[in-house]
Amino acid sequence: MRLLVHFLIASNFRRFLCVQAETKFTVKDAILHWEKVFKKQNIPEPENSAGYLVAHVLGETRIVDILVRENEILSKKEKEKLEKLCECRLARMPVQYIIKQWDFRYLNLLMAPPVFIPRPETEELINIILKYIKKSKPKPTGFLEVGCGTGAISLSLVTECKSKLYGIAIDKSYLAVKLASMNVAAYKIDTIKVAFAELTEDGNLTEVHLNGSKPFMPDDKFDFIVSNPPYIPRKKLRDLQPEIKLFEDLRAVDGGDDGMDVIKSLMKLTESRLSEGGSLFMEIDPSHPKLIEKWIDENYDRYKLKLKKVYKDIFDKKRFVHIIK
Ligand SMILES: C[S@@+](CC[C@H](N)C(=O)[O-])C[C@H]1O[C@@H](n2cnc3c(N)ncnc32)[C@H](O)[C@@H]1O
Repeated sequence: MRLLVHFLIASNFRRFLCVQAETKFTVKDAILHWEKVFKKQNIPEPENSAGYLVAHVLGETRIVDILVRENEILSKKEKEKLEKLCECRLARMPVQYIIKQWDFRYLNLLMAPPVFIPRPETEELINIILKYIKKSKPKPTGFLEVGCGTGAISLSLVTECKSKLYGIAIDKSYLAVKLASMNVAAYKIDTIKVAFAELTEDGNLTEVHLNGSKPFMPDDKFDFIVSNPPYIPRKKLRDLQPEIKLFEDLRAVDGGDDGMDVIKSLMKLTESRLSEGGSLFMEIDPSHPKLIEKWIDENYDRYKLKLKKVYKDIFDKKRFVHIIK
């Protein structure tokens, strides 16, 4: 009996999904229909999800571009494609992975699961670093990004900075290295090199050599180091949305017990890789400034670091640090 009830509910839901596919419907109908389905299924941001997926099917990347096309009638093929994409969204796949691209500041970047999707707060980190470069004399030129993901941070810095910048962007995830390389190539940037390398717990960089490739990472010191590291305290991981838990690489967000594992390694890395007078910029959890200050004090004799400034995000939360050597 219970099986029969399940079957009836499932087939009714399926009919609800397909009913629009059988009749003619416009772009506007499509958005409203899928928004309603998403709402019913408690999918976060139902309007945006429906809007982006319809835009994608119509070959657009922004919702505003389909608003002028709202009376256009979708072809059978478009409706079928839309239905497939919306089913992925119903399974809680992030929109960014379904449409395979996303905007970050002035860039449109390729996205692919499980590589971390750049978040809007990280856009604020770019403003902080660009201001620091603008004020610095002499201008910093060489930087290292640890944990580049899609390459969003390095690419934004290099494309938006008024002075010349050269960056090495590393990640321990092979898929991230591949995706970041594709994004760098798509923007035809030859001043960023992407390397498959890992920051180890003791603050060293270990490069992974594929098919006997030659060492690529230079031994240089950098004018600044930037990172949006994994920083979520482990006990908070269970509260993450299904979109993250099911589709994103959890190693990109898991910062260990207090979220400080990679942050500590980054501070250790300054010993060998940061020039005298150089800066380390990190995105962090609001619980971290106190822990960072404590670590810097306890390890001053060896690393000679100073917490120059803690920055808040637009929600008034302490989210970024600038550390100097
Ligand atoms: C939070 S994501 C940030 C990605 C990107 N920078 C951004 O802001 O969108 C952290 C990234 O660091 C990488 N990562 C984590 N631990 C690392 C380590 N020890 N060495 C190198 N990369 C690491 C992960 O693979 C992931 O791509």
